[in-house]
This record gives sequence, C-alpha cells and structure tokens, in this order.
Amino acid sequence: MTPITSKQSCSFFGLFLLLTIASAARSQEEGNPTADQRKIAALMRLTKINVNEKPTLKKVVVRYLKTVEDEADYLSYAKRFKVVESNQRLWKIVFQSKSNDNKVTAIGLLLDQSSPEEMVERIRNSDRPEEILNPIALAGSNRSMEILKRILLIRSLSSTAKNIAVKGLGKQKTGQLFLLNLVKQKKLPTECEFTAANLLLPSEFPEIRATASPLMQLPATAGSTPLPPLSELVKRSGNPANGATIFLKSGTCANCHQVNRTGKEVGPDLSEIGSKLSRQAMYESILNPNAAISHNFENYLVQTIDGLSFAGILINETDQVVTLRTADAVTKEIPKDELDGMRKSPNSLMPSDLQKNFSETDLVDLVEYLMTLKKM
Ligand code: HEC
Repeated sequence: MTPITSKQSCSFFGLFLLLTIASAARSQEEGNPTADQRKIAALMRLTKINVNEKPTLKKVVVRYLKTVEDEADYLSYAKRFKVVESNQRLWKIVFQSKSNDNKVTAIGLLLDQSSPEEMVERIRNSDRPEEILNPIALAGSNRSMEILKRILLIRSLSSTAKNIAVKGLGKQKTGQLFLLNLVKQKKLPTECEFTAANLLLPSEFPEIRATASPLMQLPATAGSTPLPPLSELVKRSGNPANGATIFLKSGTCANCHQVNRTGKEVGPDLSEIGSKLSRQAMYESILNPNAAISHNFENYLVQTIDGLSFAGILINETDQVVTLRTADAVTKEIPKDELDGMRKSPNSLMPSDLQKNFSETDLVDLVEYLMTLKKM
C-alpha cells in the first residue's frame, strides 16, 4: 500500500491557490502589504503547506511577520509557519511579555525548534536564567520536563533557578518520580529540599507520598514539630496583632527589616509586602529564603588579606572600597587593597531556620500580619 502523502491529499483548490501565491510572491520582491496579508490568510488555512520547503512563500511569510505587532497574533503565525526567523521575536516575548500565556507559547515554540542540549546551554549561559525557566516550568510538556531535569543538576546555576525547576517538575508525575529518585540517591541539591518536600509529601499519588515520607521532612517549629505542607498552611487564617508582635520580638524580623520605619535596614523594606507577595510566596520567603533571593539583596562573602571574612549585602562599591551591610545591621567598609577575594553567596543573608523561634500558630499569625501590609 502506498502511504498518502500530504501532496496527494492537498486539494486542487489548494494547489491552485498555492500556484497563485507563489507566482505573486515571485513577481513582487518588495511586497505589497495588502497582497501579503491575503496570501498569509490563505496560507493560514492551507495548513498542509510547509513554507520552509517553499522559499518564495517563506519570503512572503518572513516579510509579513516583521509587520505584525500584536504578540498574540504573532504567536499564532509563528506557530503555523515555524520559521527560524521568528526565534528572535519569540525570545523577546519570553523575556519581556506581560502575559504568562504568551511567554509559555513562545518558549514552547522555541523548545520545538531546538534540541534539549541547545536549550540547556542557552539557560546555562543566560544572565537571567530564571526568566527562561519560569515559562518552561509552566509549560508542562515532555520537552519542558526534559529540560528541567537537566537544569536541576547543573551545580553552577542559582538556587532560584533550581527551585523553579523543582516546582515545574512537581507538576507532573514523571517529574515527581524524578525528584523522588534524586532524594533516594541523596542527589537532590540541598537548597531544593524544602520545595521538593512540599511537593512530594502531600503528593496526589499515594505511592509517591509513601516513599517520600520516611525520607523527607518539613522544617520544624519551636517544640520540634514539623510544619504541615504549604498547601495546608495557606488555607489558614491568623491573628495579625499577634503576628506584629512576633515580627518585632521573637521572630527577630525587625533586626533586618523595616515596616513603616520601625526596624533595621538590612533586607528589603516590608511596608508594602502584602501587595507584592501571595500568601504562598510569603511562607516561602520566610521558611526557605534561599529559594528566591531578591534582586539587589544578594549576599556577598568577602575575604581580606589578613585572614578576616565578612558576609553582607553589597551596598556600595567604588575603585577604593567595598561596603557591606552585615546581618547585624553593621555597615562595613573594606578597602580594596585589603581584599583577598569576593564572591556572591548562593545563600540569602536571611537565616533559613527562623521558624525555630516560634510555633506554628505564631507563623500563621506572622503571615497574616504581613499580608495586611499593603500599598496605600
Ligand atoms: C539577618 C537578617 C534577616 C532576618 C533576621 C530576617 N530577614 Fe527577611 N530578608 C533578609 C534579606 C537580606 C532579604 C533579601 C534577600 C532574600 O530575598 O533572601 C530578606 C527577604 C525577606 C522577604 C522577601 C522580600 C521581598 O521583597 O520579596 C520577606 C517576606 C522576609 N524577608 C520576611 C522576613 C520575616 C517575616 C522575618 C522574621 C521571621 C525575616 N524576614 C527575618 C534578611 C533578614
């Protein structure tokens, strides 16, 4: 039996249109916008035609694509025509779009066009790997899972990037099984343990829950009772007045954060944090500060030639001095000629075991309080 090729199944009408379009394209090197528009509309319907195999048509498509401004329109053309010439614009959408949907569509098309190796290299060499990883983690395709698995094991990537990969993997059973295997082999990066435990311990798959529970634990609060998973915590509501007291006293938060000018300035001002973070992100920021370190608040580790070392937020750097703000809210100036080394730490300056200072109820109250801190 001879297989039916796309050529044979193409209708006579289609063939006729194709010939008309092709000859029109040849006769008009420069292109006429309305004529191009008509040809593109016809090609959108003739889905069996692969313009990559028809150079004259491809020229029309590439020329037309340059004129399309609307992101969603552009994406539907890019999806139909799959020409490499759209890749640059697709990357722009990945990095700059305001719509998560558009970002996910754009990265999906880029994933179709490149091998996993190429995509992983691109992420590894990017100065903003998180922005590529976020839509990949949302995409939920087999290709995206493949990328996330590889990313998680690249040591040089930031903990923010690895935690995005863990969250994306946690959305699919194959991804959860992959994470579980890493846990069994003790190969899961430590900075991802919290995020992974929050996905695997309450997993919707009983066999995953059962295997994970003796191997993983959520952080313990005062009295060493492990916390329930985040998915549980976000459903609770608390007492904001008690939360405010925890913030100032036992929680030690005010040692590093200001709210309406009370407290010390080491970490970000939290006066409007309730408008910035969701309840879930608020819990994550407190229980797992290393997962996502705020821009401009990266922790630097500095060594001096006389053997001293300092950690803190880099608040200034000139040709002569480096200025750090330490966890004790002390401003430390280190002359450059005394520097022996300086590097960005993968960990936040915010301690990752603060929940030990309070109970589960205190934590819920604290988050309730922080959620009330909104933009006026
Ligand atoms: C030793 C200093 C220190 C202490 C103590 C501390 N933090 Fe932080 N916090 C930081 C730093 C530095 C950052 C920014 C880096 C990062 O994102 O991890 C931060 C970030 C945050 C953020 C994210 C802010 C944003 O804009 O996304 C929240 C929320 C937060 N802290 C809440 C708290 C709470 C609540 C407590 C008390 C339980 C606390 N912090 C205690 C230093 C501290």
